[in-house]
Amino acid sequence: MTGALAGKAGVITGGASGIGYGLAEAFQGAGADVALFDLVDSAAAAERLGGSALGLGGDVTDDVRVAEAFSEVLERFGRFDFLVNSAGIRYQAPFAEHPIDAWRRTIDVNVTGTFICSQAAAKLMIDRGGGKILNVGSIAGQLALTERSAYNTSKGAVAALTRSIAAELAGSGVRCNSIAPGVIETPLSARYFEDPEMREVLTGNTPQGRWGQVSDLAGPAIFLCSDASEYVQGETLFVDGGWNAAKGY
Ligand SMILES: NC(=O)c1ccc[n+]([C@@H]2O[C@H](COP(=O)([O-])OP(=O)(O)OC[C@H]3O[C@@H](n4cnc5c(N)ncnc54)[C@H](O)[C@@H]3O)[C@@H](O)[C@H]2O)c1
Repeated sequence: MTGALAGKAGVITGGASGIGYGLAEAFQGAGADVALFDLVDSAAAAERLGGSALGLGGDVTDDVRVAEAFSEVLERFGRFDFLVNSAGIRYQAPFAEHPIDAWRRTIDVNVTGTFICSQAAAKLMIDRGGGKILNVGSIAGQLALTERSAYNTSKGAVAALTRSIAAELAGSGVRCNSIAPGVIETPLSARYFEDPEMREVLTGNTPQGRWGQVSDLAGPAIFLCSDASEYVQGETLFVDGGWNAAKGY
């Protein structure tokens, strides 16, 4: 993927940690200028990345701050070619006891945040003849992971939002797709790997026999944000070692 994003610039939300940070490293390696937009630690993460990386603080649910930050990116890099919506949260509770506040915040960050950032990016992209939006969904958008009703719902909505943006903005040159990772080793999922029973569930459900690493997402994400995927529109690409393909008996 060396050079696949040469001369491109854009934003990765949730870029200070986990998948977002790993993709930022990979995008830089592919030649891009990258801005990290995150609630916490964005400046430190940008410093760690080095090069032209820019750290921007803010909440994806704050439309005013998002618009301001994305304008800063355009000013700094002189272009705005891609947006990766990786900021996300997950809450675990049995359905009957799921706190409504946690439901609301999950939908707000994972769905409304993706909407707000995509809308702000789309305005800049349309003015410049196009761009790529990549949403980070999940296998949870397709499968009912136990005790994650808000999270599962939010990721199903991300797939629907991906199709909506793709269908509406195709004529403006904006491409919108999604990746749906299986379980990936990051701070968000760290607890899973400490639990021997959960480790077995994860490997047992994955035909490839292992859970994922952030590096497994780099190639698919770069492809979907590069000119190599120009005719791919509104798709959700499962990057899950075969988990979704193998569901059933
Ligand atoms: N790790 C997995 O197994 C896995 C699997 C499938 C999908 N995902 C999705 O990938 C994305 C990234 O997850 P991760 O594992 O890297 O988690 P993570 O917790 O390591 O990183 C998430 C980042 O998003 C930021 N963030 C959270 N709320 C925010 C907000 N309101 N505004 C701005 N930034 C905010 C956090 O500060 C954090 O830096 C999420 O959307 C998650 O649902 C993760």
